[in-house]
Amino acid sequence: MSCSSILASMGRRLEGKVALITGAATGIGETTARLFAQHGARVVIVDIQDDLGHSVCKDIGLDVASYTHCDVSKEEDVKKAVDGTVTKFGKLDIMFNNAAILDPHKRKIIDNETSDFERVLAVNVTGVFLGTKHAARVMIPAKQGSIIINGSAGSVIGGVASHAYVTSKHAVVGLTKNAAAELGQFGIRVNCVSPFLVASSLAKDFIKKDDGEMERWIAGMSNLKGTVLRAEDIALAAIYFGSDESRYVSGQNFLVDGGFTTVNHTFGLFNNNNQ
Ligand SMILES: NC(=O)c1ccc[n+]([C@@H]2O[C@H](COP(=O)([O-])OP(=O)(O)OC[C@H]3O[C@@H](n4cnc5c(N)ncnc54)[C@H](O)[C@@H]3O)[C@@H](O)[C@H]2O)c1
Repeated sequence: MSCSSILASMGRRLEGKVALITGAATGIGETTARLFAQHGARVVIVDIQDDLGHSVCKDIGLDVASYTHCDVSKEEDVKKAVDGTVTKFGKLDIMFNNAAILDPHKRKIIDNETSDFERVLAVNVTGVFLGTKHAARVMIPAKQGSIIINGSAGSVIGGVASHAYVTSKHAVVGLTKNAAAELGQFGIRVNCVSPFLVASSLAKDFIKKDDGEMERWIAGMSNLKGTVLRAEDIALAAIYFGSDESRYVSGQNFLVDGGFTTVNHTFGLFNNNNQ
Protein backbone atom coordinates (compact mmCIF):
# COMPACT_ATOMS: atom_id res chain seq x y z
CA MET A 1 0.00 0.00 0.00
CA SER A 2 1.48 3.40 -0.94
CA CYS A 3 1.81 6.30 1.52
CA SER A 4 -0.81 8.30 -0.39
CA SER A 5 -3.42 5.52 -0.21
CA ILE A 6 -2.73 5.03 3.51
CA LEU A 7 -3.19 8.77 4.00
CA ALA A 8 -6.37 8.88 1.94
CA SER A 9 -7.90 6.11 4.09
CA MET A 10 -7.38 7.94 7.38
CA GLY A 11 -9.58 10.50 9.14
CA ARG A 12 -8.42 13.86 10.45
CA ARG A 13 -6.32 12.78 13.41
CA LEU A 14 -5.10 16.19 14.63
CA GLU A 15 -8.35 18.14 14.43
CA GLY A 16 -8.18 21.31 16.55
CA LYS A 17 -4.51 20.89 17.50
CA VAL A 18 -1.79 23.54 17.13
CA ALA A 19 1.72 22.41 16.16
CA LEU A 20 5.08 24.14 15.86
CA ILE A 21 7.58 22.38 13.58
CA THR A 22 11.22 23.44 13.41
CA GLY A 23 13.16 23.10 10.16
CA ALA A 24 9.93 22.75 8.17
CA ALA A 25 10.86 24.78 5.08
CA THR A 26 12.10 21.56 3.42
CA GLY A 27 12.44 17.81 3.81
CA ILE A 28 10.79 15.77 6.57
CA GLY A 29 9.63 18.89 8.43
CA GLU A 30 7.89 20.31 5.36
CA THR A 31 6.16 17.00 4.62
CA THR A 32 5.06 16.78 8.26
CA ALA A 33 3.68 20.33 8.21
CA ARG A 34 1.62 19.55 5.09
CA LEU A 35 0.32 16.29 6.57
CA PHE A 36 -0.46 17.84 9.97
CA ALA A 37 -2.54 20.51 8.21
CA GLN A 38 -4.37 17.85 6.17
CA HIS A 39 -5.21 16.22 9.48
CA GLY A 40 -6.82 19.33 10.87
CA ALA A 41 -3.90 20.95 12.73
CA ARG A 42 -2.88 24.57 12.48
CA VAL A 43 0.89 24.71 11.99
CA VAL A 44 3.65 27.18 12.64
CA ILE A 45 6.67 26.53 10.47
CA VAL A 46 10.00 27.84 11.69
CA ASP A 47 13.26 27.74 9.77
CA ILE A 48 16.17 29.88 8.63
CA GLN A 49 15.24 29.53 4.92
CA ASP A 50 12.64 32.29 4.93
CA ASP A 51 11.57 32.30 1.26
CA LEU A 52 10.99 28.55 1.24
CA GLY A 53 9.20 28.67 4.61
CA HIS A 54 6.83 31.43 3.42
CA SER A 55 6.08 29.60 0.18
CA VAL A 56 5.29 26.30 2.00
CA CYS A 57 2.85 28.19 4.27
CA LYS A 58 1.22 29.92 1.32
CA ASP A 59 0.78 26.56 -0.34
CA ILE A 60 -0.75 24.97 2.78
CA GLY A 61 -3.03 27.98 3.31
CA LEU A 62 -2.37 31.10 5.37
CA ASP A 63 -5.50 30.51 7.46
CA VAL A 64 -3.94 27.36 8.95
CA ALA A 65 -0.18 27.83 8.43
CA SER A 66 2.18 30.55 9.53
CA TYR A 67 5.93 31.11 9.08
CA THR A 68 8.40 32.55 11.59
CA HIS A 69 12.13 33.00 11.11
CA CYS A 70 13.87 31.12 13.92
CA ASP A 71 17.39 29.84 14.36
CA VAL A 72 16.79 27.01 16.84
CA SER A 73 20.23 27.48 18.39
CA LYS A 74 19.25 30.98 19.59
CA GLU A 75 17.07 31.09 22.70
CA GLU A 76 15.49 34.47 21.90
CA ASP A 77 14.34 33.15 18.48
CA VAL A 78 12.85 29.99 19.97
CA LYS A 79 11.10 31.89 22.77
CA LYS A 80 9.59 34.30 20.22
CA ALA A 81 8.45 31.45 17.95
CA VAL A 82 6.68 29.66 20.81
CA ASP A 83 5.09 32.85 22.14
CA GLY A 84 4.08 33.87 18.62
CA THR A 85 2.37 30.49 18.11
CA VAL A 86 0.30 30.96 21.28
CA THR A 87 -0.57 34.55 20.27
CA LYS A 88 -1.63 33.52 16.76
CA PHE A 89 -3.41 30.23 17.40
CA GLY A 90 -4.17 30.40 21.16
CA LYS A 91 -2.12 27.42 22.38
CA LEU A 92 0.60 24.89 21.60
CA ASP A 93 -0.33 21.19 21.57
CA ILE A 94 2.53 19.67 19.57
CA MET A 95 6.18 20.73 19.38
CA PHE A 96 8.18 18.87 16.71
CA ASN A 97 11.90 19.54 17.21
CA ASN A 98 12.91 18.51 13.70
CA ALA A 99 15.65 20.92 12.54
CA ALA A 100 19.15 19.50 12.36
CA ILE A 101 22.35 19.84 10.36
CA LEU A 102 25.19 17.57 9.34
CA ASP A 103 28.86 18.54 9.14
CA PRO A 104 31.09 17.62 6.18
CA HIS A 105 32.04 13.94 6.06
CA LYS A 106 35.61 13.50 7.30
CA ARG A 107 36.51 9.88 7.99
CA LYS A 108 39.19 10.56 10.61
CA ILE A 109 38.39 12.15 13.95
CA ILE A 110 41.82 13.78 13.89
CA ASP A 111 40.72 15.75 10.79
CA ASN A 112 37.43 16.91 12.38
CA GLU A 113 37.29 20.58 13.31
CA THR A 114 36.11 21.46 16.83
CA SER A 115 34.15 24.36 15.32
CA ASP A 116 32.16 21.94 13.08
CA PHE A 117 31.49 19.66 16.05
CA GLU A 118 30.22 22.58 18.16
CA ARG A 119 28.12 23.97 15.30
CA VAL A 120 26.31 20.63 14.89
CA LEU A 121 25.71 20.30 18.62
CA ALA A 122 24.41 23.88 18.83
CA VAL A 123 21.62 23.12 16.33
CA ASN A 124 20.98 19.41 16.93
CA VAL A 125 21.24 19.35 20.74
CA THR A 126 20.97 22.91 22.10
CA GLY A 127 18.24 23.60 19.52
CA VAL A 128 16.24 20.60 20.74
CA PHE A 129 16.81 21.58 24.36
CA LEU A 130 15.53 25.11 23.67
CA GLY A 131 12.52 23.85 21.75
CA THR A 132 11.67 21.44 24.55
CA LYS A 133 12.22 24.07 27.24
CA HIS A 134 10.03 26.75 25.67
CA ALA A 135 7.32 24.30 24.60
CA ALA A 136 7.20 23.03 28.19
CA ARG A 137 6.93 26.61 29.45
CA VAL A 138 3.58 27.05 27.70
CA MET A 139 2.40 23.43 27.95
CA ILE A 140 2.85 23.14 31.74
CA PRO A 141 0.04 25.62 32.60
CA ALA A 142 -2.18 23.85 30.03
CA LYS A 143 -1.36 20.50 31.68
CA GLN A 144 -1.06 18.76 28.30
CA GLY A 145 1.13 18.59 25.23
CA SER A 146 3.23 16.33 23.04
CA ILE A 147 6.88 17.08 22.37
CA ILE A 148 8.45 15.11 19.51
CA ILE A 149 12.13 15.04 18.62
CA ASN A 150 13.51 13.93 15.27
CA GLY A 151 16.33 11.50 16.06
CA SER A 152 18.03 9.12 13.64
CA ALA A 153 19.22 5.55 13.27
CA GLY A 154 22.44 7.24 14.47
CA SER A 155 20.75 7.72 17.86
CA VAL A 156 21.27 4.04 18.69
CA ILE A 157 24.21 2.81 16.59
CA GLY A 158 27.55 4.15 15.42
CA GLY A 159 29.10 4.14 11.97
CA VAL A 160 26.21 5.79 10.12
CA ALA A 161 27.20 9.48 10.02
CA SER A 162 29.81 11.94 11.30
CA HIS A 163 31.08 11.94 14.90
CA ALA A 164 29.25 15.18 15.66
CA TYR A 165 25.93 14.03 14.17
CA VAL A 166 25.92 10.60 15.87
CA THR A 167 26.89 12.25 19.17
CA SER A 168 24.07 14.76 18.80
CA LYS A 169 21.46 12.13 18.00
CA HIS A 170 22.45 9.93 20.95
CA ALA A 171 22.23 13.06 23.14
CA VAL A 172 18.65 13.91 22.17
CA VAL A 173 17.50 10.44 23.22
CA GLY A 174 18.86 11.23 26.69
CA LEU A 175 16.94 14.50 26.66
CA THR A 176 13.79 12.69 25.49
CA LYS A 177 13.97 10.36 28.49
CA ASN A 178 14.82 13.06 31.03
CA ALA A 179 12.19 15.50 29.78
CA ALA A 180 9.60 12.67 29.78
CA ALA A 181 10.59 11.96 33.40
CA GLU A 182 10.09 15.57 34.48
CA LEU A 183 7.12 16.58 32.34
CA GLY A 184 4.95 13.50 32.90
CA GLN A 185 3.65 15.09 36.11
CA PHE A 186 2.12 17.84 33.94
CA GLY A 187 0.52 15.43 31.46
CA ILE A 188 3.15 16.26 28.80
CA ARG A 189 4.56 13.42 26.70
CA VAL A 190 8.02 13.47 25.12
CA ASN A 191 9.05 11.02 22.39
CA CYS A 192 11.71 10.68 19.72
CA VAL A 193 11.09 9.42 16.17
CA SER A 194 14.23 8.01 14.56
CA PRO A 195 14.39 7.52 10.79
CA PHE A 196 16.70 5.40 8.66
CA LEU A 197 17.70 7.18 5.43
CA VAL A 198 15.36 9.55 3.56
CA ALA A 199 16.64 11.17 0.35
CA SER A 200 16.36 14.75 1.67
CA SER A 201 18.83 17.55 0.95
CA LEU A 202 20.55 16.86 4.29
CA ALA A 203 21.21 13.22 3.34
CA LYS A 204 22.11 14.03 -0.28
CA ASP A 205 24.62 16.70 0.72
CA PHE A 206 26.34 14.23 3.05
CA ILE A 207 26.30 11.16 0.84
CA LYS A 208 26.99 13.04 -2.41
CA LYS A 209 24.83 10.91 -4.68
CA ASP A 210 22.14 11.96 -7.14
CA ASP A 211 18.48 10.95 -6.60
CA GLY A 212 18.40 7.63 -8.51
CA GLU A 213 21.84 6.54 -7.30
CA MET A 214 20.91 7.46 -3.72
CA GLU A 215 17.68 5.46 -3.81
CA ARG A 216 19.51 2.34 -5.08
CA TRP A 217 22.21 2.78 -2.47
CA ILE A 218 19.66 3.11 0.35
CA ALA A 219 17.66 0.12 -0.95
CA GLY A 220 20.82 -2.00 -1.00
CA MET A 221 21.49 -1.32 2.68
CA SER A 222 17.91 -1.62 3.91
CA ASN A 223 16.77 -4.58 5.97
CA LEU A 224 13.21 -4.22 4.68
CA LYS A 225 13.33 -4.89 0.94
CA GLY A 226 10.91 -3.61 -1.66
CA THR A 227 9.88 -0.55 0.37
CA VAL A 228 11.69 2.77 0.25
CA LEU A 229 11.50 5.01 3.34
CA ARG A 230 9.85 8.34 2.52
CA ALA A 231 9.45 11.57 4.47
CA GLU A 232 5.72 10.71 4.69
CA ASP A 233 6.57 7.65 6.80
CA ILE A 234 8.21 9.90 9.40
CA ALA A 235 5.31 12.35 9.20
CA LEU A 236 2.90 9.48 9.86
CA ALA A 237 4.87 8.51 12.97
CA ALA A 238 4.82 12.17 14.09
CA ILE A 239 1.04 12.23 13.63
CA TYR A 240 0.74 9.21 15.92
CA PHE A 241 2.90 10.84 18.62
CA GLY A 242 1.14 14.18 18.22
CA SER A 243 -2.35 12.72 18.35
CA ASP A 244 -4.32 11.35 21.29
CA GLU A 245 -3.81 7.83 19.88
CA SER A 246 -0.48 7.82 21.74
CA ARG A 247 -1.96 9.33 24.92
CA TYR A 248 -0.11 6.87 27.19
CA VAL A 249 3.19 6.74 25.26
CA SER A 250 6.14 8.75 26.57
CA GLY A 251 9.94 8.51 26.81
CA GLN A 252 10.24 6.35 23.68
CA ASN A 253 12.77 6.39 20.87
CA PHE A 254 10.67 4.99 18.01
CA LEU A 255 12.78 3.69 15.13
CA VAL A 256 11.31 4.04 11.65
CA ASP A 257 14.08 2.01 10.07
CA GLY A 258 12.59 -1.23 8.70
CA GLY A 259 14.59 -3.14 11.31
CA PHE A 260 17.97 -1.72 10.19
CA THR A 261 19.28 -1.06 13.72
CA THR A 262 17.95 -4.25 15.30
CA VAL A 263 19.45 -6.84 12.97
CA ASN A 264 22.99 -7.69 11.96
CA HIS A 265 23.27 -9.57 8.68
CA THR A 266 27.02 -10.19 8.84
CA PHE A 267 26.30 -13.74 10.10
CA GLY A 268 24.50 -14.42 6.83
CA LEU A 269 21.91 -16.75 8.43
CA PHE A 270 19.03 -15.47 6.32
CA ASN A 271 20.75 -14.76 3.01
CA ASN A 272 18.80 -16.22 0.09
CA ASN A 273 21.78 -18.28 -1.07
CA ASN A 274 22.09 -19.96 2.37
CA GLN A 275 19.01 -22.18 2.00
N1 LIG B 1 17.15 12.52 5.78
C1 LIG B 1 17.56 11.50 6.48
O1 LIG B 1 18.03 10.49 5.95
C2 LIG B 1 17.44 11.54 7.97
C3 LIG B 1 17.73 10.36 8.67
C4 LIG B 1 17.64 10.36 10.04
C5 LIG B 1 17.23 11.51 10.70
N2 LIG B 1 16.94 12.66 10.00
C6 LIG B 1 16.53 13.84 10.75
O2 LIG B 1 15.38 14.40 10.18
C7 LIG B 1 15.35 15.80 10.49
C8 LIG B 1 15.02 16.60 9.25
O3 LIG B 1 16.06 16.43 8.32
P1 LIG B 1 15.83 16.37 6.74
O4 LIG B 1 16.43 15.12 6.26
O5 LIG B 1 14.44 16.69 6.40
O6 LIG B 1 16.82 17.54 6.30
P2 LIG B 1 16.60 18.93 5.51
O7 LIG B 1 17.96 19.51 5.38
O8 LIG B 1 15.78 18.69 4.30
O9 LIG B 1 15.73 19.79 6.54
C9 LIG B 1 16.27 20.37 7.67
C10 LIG B 1 15.68 21.77 7.82
O10 LIG B 1 16.21 22.36 9.02
C11 LIG B 1 16.50 23.71 8.74
N3 LIG B 1 17.52 24.22 9.68
C12 LIG B 1 18.85 23.99 9.65
N4 LIG B 1 19.45 24.67 10.65
C13 LIG B 1 18.47 25.34 11.31
C14 LIG B 1 18.48 26.21 12.41
N5 LIG B 1 19.61 26.56 13.03
N6 LIG B 1 17.31 26.73 12.83
C15 LIG B 1 16.14 26.40 12.19
N7 LIG B 1 16.09 25.57 11.13
C16 LIG B 1 17.24 25.05 10.69
C17 LIG B 1 16.98 23.72 7.31
O11 LIG B 1 16.91 25.02 6.75
C18 LIG B 1 16.02 22.71 6.66
O12 LIG B 1 14.86 23.35 6.19
C19 LIG B 1 16.69 16.11 11.13
O13 LIG B 1 16.55 16.10 12.53
C20 LIG B 1 17.55 14.95 10.71
O14 LIG B 1 18.63 14.71 11.58
C21 LIG B 1 17.04 12.69 8.65
